[in-house]
Amino acid sequence: MRAFIELSGEHPTLPRAEALAAIAAERLDLRSASFAGPLLRIDAIGPMERVARRIGLAHTVCEELVSGDFEAIRAFARDMDLAGRTFRVRARGLGTDLDPSTLEGPLGADLGRTGHVDLDFPVDDFRLLVADEFVLGRVIHRVDRSRLESTKVAHRAFSRPISLHPKFARALVNLSRVPMAGTVLDPFCGTGGVVLEAAAMGMRPIGSDRDRAMVSGTRAALRGIASDGHVALADAGCLPLRPGAVHGVATDPPYGRASSTKGERIRSLYDRAFRAFADLLPRGVHAAVVLPDPSMADEAPDSFEFVEAHALRVHRSLVRHFCVFVRV
Ligand SMILES: C[S@@+](CC[C@H](N)C(=O)[O-])C[C@H]1O[C@@H](n2cnc3c(N)ncnc32)[C@H](O)[C@@H]1O
Repeated sequence: MRAFIELSGEHPTLPRAEALAAIAAERLDLRSASFAGPLLRIDAIGPMERVARRIGLAHTVCEELVSGDFEAIRAFARDMDLAGRTFRVRARGLGTDLDPSTLEGPLGADLGRTGHVDLDFPVDDFRLLVADEFVLGRVIHRVDRSRLESTKVAHRAFSRPISLHPKFARALVNLSRVPMAGTVLDPFCGTGGVVLEAAAMGMRPIGSDRDRAMVSGTRAALRGIASDGHVALADAGCLPLRPGAVHGVATDPPYGRASSTKGERIRSLYDRAFRAFADLLPRGVHAAVVLPDPSMADEAPDSFEFVEAHALRVHRSLVRHFCVFVRV
């Protein structure tokens, strides 16, 4: 299937990395991938809808129908037979000053030869993007950005100012490349941002934390949305799990600032945690870890290979580095 993903613009590399990690997690056979600004185009075989439902840092995921100049798009639209179905067509210029209505009108007229316009609940939702060429697709998934906004920690019953925004928690889970039916571990679960997002994605989340209040808060929050998740009181350096029990780690450890390490040096904590991950994870499995400084990636033992890192500036004195490692 040829598809394109309309990535969100909140970061220069993280949205693309998230989408590619989701594709890898669902074991799609990726034949090709190219990107221009916020447009990621792929040719892949496998369950694209499942990939689409995972992604947070995007607007739409579309099946690609045709590309070329506007005349080629219109010729394709005139040849389509919608058999009386309802449709909508929306255009967007990527990096161009474009008035969408100048494209939507003529294209809508072409499609209207065999279908009927319904701007609210169409059967066929077409998306025309204009980058270095025109690309027409049928929307297979629209990312629910408002849900991601409404579930941020300030709106949850158990709240502390340490939590990742749900869209970045989701990106972190995707970077861990855990498949949809898999088990993901967050051993520094805090208020449960990562665990809750993994549950919303259909995974089995396991969370743990050394702080009793965090464990009971996350457990209560999870109870409402997932039946088979699990939250335990545990030190991240001494995890009560047998080797191979999880399909990946997605975690946001303390940075040695707001969230306490109870006096332990941050490098010592990371060193202990990475050793515990190494004992737990089988070869080929990923750990996605947010670090406050890219040099902290050196704390990963030789049993981990560095895969990628994406720096996200939070404010003047905090940059979160979304780092990915694979167990070798
Ligand atoms: C940055 S916060 C996690 C934020 C989390 N992503 C959230 O959504 O709330 C780090 C967490 O690590 C926990 N922590 C600190 N040292 C720990 C240790 N040795 N083992 C397990 N958890 C620890 C803290 O209690 C804190 O809840």
